[in-house]
Amino acid sequence: MPHYLYTWNYLATLLGVFLGLKLVRGLDVSQSRPNFLLLLADDLGIGDLGCYGNSTIRTPNIDRLAEGGVRLTQHLAAEAVCTPSRAAFLTGRYPIRTGMTSGNGHRVLQWAAGAGGLPAEEITFAKILKEQGYVTGLIGKWHLGLNCHSSSDHCHHPLSHGFQYFLGMPLGMMGDCSGTEPSEKRVTLQRRLYLCSQASVLAALTLVAGRLTGLLRAPRWLLVLILAAAATMFAASRHVGDLIIYADCFLMRNHSVTQQPLHLERVTGLMLREAETFLQRNKHHPFMLFISFLHVHVPLVTTAGFRGRSKHGLYGDNVEEMDWMVGRILDALDRERLTDKTLVYFASDHGGSLESRVGHMQLGGWNGVYRGGKGMGGWEGGIRVPGIFRWPGVLPAGRVVDEPTSMMDVFPTVVLLGGGTEPRDRVIDGRNLLPLLRGETPHSDHEFLLHYCEVFLHAARWVQRDRGRVWKVHFMTPNFHPEGAGACYGSAVCPCIGDVTEHDPPLLFDLSTDPGETRPLKPDSEPEFHTVVGKLKQEAAQQWHSLSQIHQQLGSIYNIWRPWLQPYCGEFPNYGCDLEE
Ligand SMILES: *[C@@H]1O[C@H](CO)[C@@H](O)[C@H](O)[C@H]1NC(C)=O
Repeated sequence: MPHYLYTWNYLATLLGVFLGLKLVRGLDVSQSRPNFLLLLADDLGIGDLGCYGNSTIRTPNIDRLAEGGVRLTQHLAAEAVCTPSRAAFLTGRYPIRTGMTSGNGHRVLQWAAGAGGLPAEEITFAKILKEQGYVTGLIGKWHLGLNCHSSSDHCHHPLSHGFQYFLGMPLGMMGDCSGTEPSEKRVTLQRRLYLCSQASVLAALTLVAGRLTGLLRAPRWLLVLILAAAATMFAASRHVGDLIIYADCFLMRNHSVTQQPLHLERVTGLMLREAETFLQRNKHHPFMLFISFLHVHVPLVTTAGFRGRSKHGLYGDNVEEMDWMVGRILDALDRERLTDKTLVYFASDHGGSLESRVGHMQLGGWNGVYRGGKGMGGWEGGIRVPGIFRWPGVLPAGRVVDEPTSMMDVFPTVVLLGGGTEPRDRVIDGRNLLPLLRGETPHSDHEFLLHYCEVFLHAARWVQRDRGRVWKVHFMTPNFHPEGAGACYGSAVCPCIGDVTEHDPPLLFDLSTDPGETRPLKPDSEPEFHTVVGKLKQEAAQQWHSLSQIHQQLGSIYNIWRPWLQPYCGEFPNYGCDLEE
């Protein structure tokens, strides 16, 4: 062999070894346990972000995240409202499996002092990561329950579900927290208390009449008791707003109530500072930090610097402020040199709320071309959410994935990357996303996804891979009021049962050509109609049989205010505190 060929051979071998090494290193990185920074917005619509096509709102920081990572265009929440969607996110399981549902109109946990919540037997990814040696923290909204039997048993508290550290609101930000918004909860409660006080007065009058006529001989103390109850309920009905502010709008730091009621204007700064110190404190240790924003839920608490800045009123200002917060947190990652070692995820718990408005002012998000929004059964606008993953050097930058994925997929993905294993004693509905995110496989593992509203199956989708089509069937849809307006104005969220339309035959859409669900396909003109509907019905029946009997955590008896479960700080009669100075 000529001399130069030897040299050539030698060089080629060397090159091969280098490439091989690089490949091994690449694989190594994916197996080295990254940190996890999970960012979840509240009520943000998929159409509210620059990187999802909004040209008039400014979200440079979230857009930067998408540019440096993988952006999912068909990322789906398991439910179109907070509590069940968040439960599914943390456990990787449909809410009907974990009992985070009701069958009677309660769609989310209503009170911090209710008894329902994520059952102790459920396993969150936080719990597994903690067992794998991660430091786990939650900053912000929880909304998955607090107590079972006393005001401090904390059976559903984040620290009982795998988080080692918590600063935030056990329930979450609500319109009621500002005291100015006439929320449905407040109005209903006010009316009920008022009616009860009137009924008590009536009962008292009957007793008096009975005594005077000698027909009824009730003891005097009973009369006094009834009058006292009437007075209390009347007084309470006048102060419902203040009561709710104390009952639900408070901060906890780990196991203690530290600010009651919440100081709205200080909470953004407080959350940011917590996030920054958490990153600084744990930079030498694997961590999972879940930042669950109070933005962009009403009452749209926005600091002065951001008010009046956007082109979209207070809602737009609030979105832009949240984006700024994301930027601050990403800067902190950079500063601590954690960016390359950290998998960052950004999503919203469900779609934007179309009903959230006062007069003509829209206070809820924008869901782009997708129909419907928060709370609206299986309509795409309520469940299709932004989904961004960034991990420099491991996930390709700027990649866009159109395959259907679920927020439940985060569970197996972070569990496996963190060195843990999926629990084998229960069904996990999420699928490991890493191969899809890295581009090692073109397809998502989900062939079917079911879209429940409470325990009722409203819709389902089937990915027909060989034909590249995504079919979606609606068995039930909420009724819009006024007809055709695209929302259930007049109630806070659409109901799942009752005021709905049952479709027989079901409504069928081909999302691959009609993502806005505007042209239902007819059985006589769409040859695949019966095949698709039959397949999805079969899949739904199969899943139904795989469910086990469980308590409905959101049903009425668990979901009412129980005074003895109410967390508080301070002493009688001076309740309330502020230890977050
Ligand atoms: C951008 O978002 C705002 C706020 O939700 C919305 O009003 C507007 O219609 C959106 N614009 C586009 C082009 O999507």
